Formats: sequence, C-alpha cells, structure tokens
Amino acid sequence: MKIISAIEEMQQTALGLKRQGKTIAFVPTMGYLHEGHASLLREGRTRGDILVLSIFVNPIQFGQNEDLDSYPHDRERDFRTAEGCGVDIVFTPDSTGMYPSGFQTGVAVRELSQPLCGASRPGHFDGVATVVTKLFNIVQPDVALFGRKDYQQLAVIRRMAADLNLPVQVIGMPIVREADGLALSSRNSYLSPVERQAALCLSRALVRVRERYAAGERSAATLKNEALAVIAQEPLAAIDYLEVRDGATLEPSQTVDSGTLVALAVKLGQTRLIDNTIVGEE
Ligand code: PAJ
Repeated sequence: MKIISAIEEMQQTALGLKRQGKTIAFVPTMGYLHEGHASLLREGRTRGDILVLSIFVNPIQFGQNEDLDSYPHDRERDFRTAEGCGVDIVFTPDSTGMYPSGFQTGVAVRELSQPLCGASRPGHFDGVATVVTKLFNIVQPDVALFGRKDYQQLAVIRRMAADLNLPVQVIGMPIVREADGLALSSRNSYLSPVERQAALCLSRALVRVRERYAAGERSAATLKNEALAVIAQEPLAAIDYLEVRDGATLEPSQTVDSGTLVALAVKLGQTRLIDNTIVGEE
C-alpha cells in the first residue's frame, strides 16, 4: 500500500494508471475509519483494478462553531484498516495544498443543498461538492463510493456528477450500524456513556416509522409525530430536524410511499448525529 500526500504525485500516478488501462475505484473520507468506511472500501475493492482511499478533513465544509479542530484522528489505525481492506493508495493531502492562498472557486448544487443538513449547516454542501470535485480531478476515479448514512450528501454528489458530466459512476452503499442500531460515525467517539445510550433514540425513531409504515400508515404528518414522540422520550436529545421528504428530490412529502426518506439530526450534548431511512427499503 502506497501513501501519497503530494497532490501532483497523486494526479500523475492516477493519470499513469489510466493510460495503462487500469480502472480506479475511490472512497473519499475524513479518516478515523470505522466499519462503515470499511464496507465502502471492500465494495470498492471489487469495482476497480486500483483502490484509492483519501483521508482529508476538509476545512471548507465545517462551520465556524463546528468540530474542525477536534475532529478525531488516528492515522496509524486508519492505515492498518486500509491495508486490511485491500487499499492500493491512501491519498492524504494537506489543507494548504488543497486550498493555497488565492483559492476562490467553488461548486454549488443549489437546490439539493438547501434543506435538512444544508439548513442547519449553511455552506456545508458547497464545501463538500467543491472538495469532491477536486478529489475526483486528482484521483481520476471510474467509480466512487459513498454511504447512504449521509443521504443528502450522496444526493448532492450524484446530481453534481450528472450536471457537470463527470466521468465517474457514483455508488451509494447501505448504512452500517452497531448491533443495537446506532449508525456508525466517526463522531460517535465524542459521546459519553450516557449519551451513547441516549443516541439510540435516532435509530429507534426510524424503526418506529418503518413499523408504522409496514402497518399501513401513509400520512407523513402522522409518521413524523410518531418519530418525534420517540425522540421526546429521551431527555438528553435535542432535535435539530426531523423531516419526511421525497427520496429523490428531497422535496417535502405529504403522503408516504416506498421511496420516501425520513431523515433526522439530533444533538446529544455537543455532538450532532444524523440518521435516515427510506421507509420501503429492505
Ligand atoms: P466521512 O464522514 O469520513 O465519510 C466518508 C464516507 O463514509 C461517506 O460516503 C459516508 O457516507 C460513509 N459512511 C460514514 N458512516 C457510514 C455508515 N455508518 N455506513 C455506511 N457508510 C458510512 O462524508 C465525508 O467523510 C466527507 O463529507 C467527504 C465525502 C469525504 C468530503 O469531505
């Protein structure tokens, strides 16, 4: 496994591999890898000749009062995980290389970036779209894998790839959860033991929604209230948003069908967690 930090070297390596006819599968991350990231890497391993992982905590997708400076990291463990998943190249650029002085260009996916996490985190998805465009141009992937855990991010990147004719296939992967239902996240490491227990209210709320949907409930308002009631039972949880939307357009839904998205963000102490489900999904 090769570790490349220099942007130019990564790009020349990728272009060289492409000239040899190799296909490149790519998993962009911010590191502190867990089983969710590993699931993307294992799938990526089967999708290209060369598997590239990037680790870059992208400053322009963090707001002023967010956790950029405290974002968890353990590079040595990440490298071991990467090796175990068959990664060929780990790309670890630094911020000054990615955003040298004078940098001023951005990519914005206008409508899909507005609701849900975009409303709570203004500018977040512009930061994501911009860094992913840069990473795609550097790594030259044929296939890129993203988790449905960040459902809106995946929607934004799919739209961006289509709108800008990026020659990359974007693949969405299932949410990996702990045995008790909590969606894996690098940010789970911030939780105290009591917050970790309280964090179960996110997945429980989604389970409740899925159960009520399976029992025939089709009113978005009713399903939303059911989910809110589950969160309300947890005194440590403060809701940021809980919304029922069309899974493709992210427009609000009045009635629910198999493609409807229920997405939520909840704060436990200082830690903001997200989760979602498509109600009719297996
Ligand atoms: P990060 O939060 O490190 O996540 C990297 C990828 O792992 C994303 O595609 C995310 O959806 C996926 N992922 C995280 N938790 C998951 C889980 N429990 N199950 C399945 N997949 C999961 O998302 C980012 O980094 C950044 O915004 C990035 C795309 C790298 C741009 O900076």
